[in-house]
Amino acid sequence: MASFASQQGAAVATTERHATQVGLDILAKGGNAVDAAVAIHFALAVTHPNAGNIGGGGFMLYHASEGSDSFLDFREIAPAAATADMYRDNPNSSTFGWRAVGVPGAVPGMFEAHRKYGKLQWSDLVDPAYHLAKDGFVLHQSLFDNLQRHKSKLTLDPGANITFFGSQKMQAGEIFKQSELAHSLQLISKRGDLAMRNGHIVDEILRLSAKDGILCATDFENYQPVWRDVHRFYWRDKEILCASLPSSGGMFLQQSLALIGNSPLSVWGFNDSRTIQLIGEATAAAFRDRNKYFGDPDNLKVDLPRLLDPEYLSLRRQQISATSQSNAHLGNASIPRETTETTHFSVIDKWGGAVSCTTTLNSNFGAKVMAAGILFNNEMDDFAAQPGEANQFGLVQSSANEIIPGNRPLSSMAPTIVLKDGRVDAIIGSPGGPTILTTVLQVLLNRYIFNMQPLAAVDAPRFHRQDLPTYIKHEWNRINAVARERLRQYGQPLRKVRGLGLVNAIFSYNGSYQAISDKRGDGWAQSVMTN
Ligand code: DON
Repeated sequence: MASFASQQGAAVATTERHATQVGLDILAKGGNAVDAAVAIHFALAVTHPNAGNIGGGGFMLYHASEGSDSFLDFREIAPAAATADMYRDNPNSSTFGWRAVGVPGAVPGMFEAHRKYGKLQWSDLVDPAYHLAKDGFVLHQSLFDNLQRHKSKLTLDPGANITFFGSQKMQAGEIFKQSELAHSLQLISKRGDLAMRNGHIVDEILRLSAKDGILCATDFENYQPVWRDVHRFYWRDKEILCASLPSSGGMFLQQSLALIGNSPLSVWGFNDSRTIQLIGEATAAAFRDRNKYFGDPDNLKVDLPRLLDPEYLSLRRQQISATSQSNAHLGNASIPRETTETTHFSVIDKWGGAVSCTTTLNSNFGAKVMAAGILFNNEMDDFAAQPGEANQFGLVQSSANEIIPGNRPLSSMAPTIVLKDGRVDAIIGSPGGPTILTTVLQVLLNRYIFNMQPLAAVDAPRFHRQDLPTYIKHEWNRINAVARERLRQYGQPLRKVRGLGLVNAIFSYNGSYQAISDKRGDGWAQSVMTN
């Protein structure tokens, strides 16, 4: 195994170049993939603050070089004082302001991942982020633009206003420092997860959220990340590892691939209308189960074996069609906004250990509230905050995903690892709310059904269909005029959108690991030869 791994080298792909460098530095120091992932996670909280986070949560999938697999759920939970109807009177409060904030899992999660698998010292992994916050980094254009886009809301929060628009007259290309965040990172470096359980950071959160929020001290004392079973299934000659509930990632991929089954996609071709329609029908069907049945597995009995039963799937396969819109049904889902938040990174170390990690504040800059230099999530909106109504992603979800104190909201984040003959063949993931699921699915199909090279598999234009709304969203160059016409004849509504997903992936290719950051963003992927 070792000789195979060293022949293949190590690689990192993240959405931001300082974070990638931090990951590479940790690997060069002898850290393993988990060490690098923890350091990248903290670095992204500094250099990619719209999605990288300390005040959010996510999922980390790890394939250890010895062959074991684990899945860490550090998703946010509903505060103890949360109630099912807490957003009924003011729907905006599930996305904006302190009421929208779920108890964050990022620091306890990273601490737990390091406790179980890390090789280097904890402080070695937090300190690069501390230095990026204290000494600053050159503000890149995309972060500058993003801050301008969200300025009107961010300036309403005193901490965010000072950090992003206050004393420093920030322009792209200038050094951007975050002194309060640096102080918090110093505390995290010294105290580990305790820094997020009591003391200065928690005091500041409780002080600043007291007026509008419902967070209390015990929410932070009690938060626990959870090791869960990896969602694992076999597809063609591959073993697919993915996120289990409360993420719908693994179930979605397994159901969609089973529904596509042996349909002759590669014979029809990538651009063929039947290929597009069949994939759309399969994903809409998988979304329907997602939205109806899934929620927090600690508090809900979900009959996964039934939903994966070959008879059930074959029945559903008969209901979908490559040449008509058979899955359409009426509903009142609104048109979701296009979003660019959340972030995914992929790491492989020289021993062949791999991390696939997706982490989020949910919306860009989360709930747009800050304490101790830290931005906080609006993950409460991932619950069925308004049962029967669409959330910000157009998802209409059921009471399976209702708000219950201590519960985790259902997620679409889908960190994925593909194994071939027991070795890592691909590490894939993306942001994009529900479009994460269809993005990861399409990268898999591009690579393994359409036999695209890794770069093409990531860059190829994409489309997305969920249960409701019933249209296919597609990037401008995904569906040519002929296919568009056919799809309209099938009764399939279409809608052009700007960009779907933002993949950071690593593939085994021609004897080495090739790291790829999606051309849709300005991420940085790098592979290194190791000895
Ligand atoms: O967990 C989820 O499914 C969402 N909070 C992810 C949000 C997201 O990807 C937004 N990005 N575009």
